[in-house]
Amino acid sequence: MDKLSQITTGKAKSLFSTAHPDQLIMEFRDDTSAFDGKKMEALDNKGNVNNQFNAFVMEFLATKGIETHFIELLSSNESLVKKLDMFPIECVVRNRATGSLCKRLGIEDGLILDPPLFEFFLKDDALGDPLINDHHIVSFGWASQEEADTMRELTLQANDILVNFFSEANLILVDYKLEFGMFQGKMLLADEFTPDGCRLWDKDTLAKMDKDRFRQDLGNVIETYSEVAERLGMQIKLD
Ligand SMILES: Nc1ncnc2c1ncn2[C@@H]1O[C@H](COP(=O)(O)OP(=O)(O)OP(=O)(O)O)[C@@H](O)[C@H]1O
Ligand SMILES: [Mg+2]
Repeated sequence: MDKLSQITTGKAKSLFSTAHPDQLIMEFRDDTSAFDGKKMEALDNKGNVNNQFNAFVMEFLATKGIETHFIELLSSNESLVKKLDMFPIECVVRNRATGSLCKRLGIEDGLILDPPLFEFFLKDDALGDPLINDHHIVSFGWASQEEADTMRELTLQANDILVNFFSEANLILVDYKLEFGMFQGKMLLADEFTPDGCRLWDKDTLAKMDKDRFRQDLGNVIETYSEVAERLGMQIKLD
């Protein structure tokens, strides 16, 4: 399947149309951004690692009953996906308090959240991706109440699966973000699941093994993503 024209380019990925009207090529670039795009850098091999990491997690979630946009890997840094009508919403689950939640509510860093905390954010970099609730979603027409409920249910369902998945690799799934879209009347998990969009801490040392290494200048960003992939049993191909 060849790339026709670029239909969008975000901060880390680009989407291209294909000869098939319902399918897109998602290219994972090396570009890495933080703080709503204020910090940007290209990290060698990030596109390769994240594309293959995402494919592995999406395929794993599909085996557990979470339907996704992922179709197949096309190359080390490209995947074929279904073209969705995306909700402008980020769904976040937190199993531990850290980052913006601690700042916002004065919560102690690392606090275990049981039950896990679910939050909606509006996908809008210019506004700093603000926290929103179901009422904002329905009143402004970003999704229906039923769609918001489904997004929340699927995100929490994925949490049960992923907490165990990472725990077996001696990792704590601290928090993560998911995006959803509609395809032929059905809600599918879209976008990506990679160490760029989640927080993972080593169970023994609590070392950060995710994009916080980039945000906080801790170094070895891609080496650490690769270690996570290896612990999960992935065999990542680099160019
Ligand atoms: N299956 C899909 N169909 C259509 N659009 C999709 C699909 N999966 C993801 N997208 C969209 O593609 C874009 C990917 O861009 P990318 O993740 O690089 O950056 P971004 O969204 O600008 O930044 P951020 O990482 O802050 O979300 C996003 O707008 C995302 O919502
Ligand atoms: Mg994105």
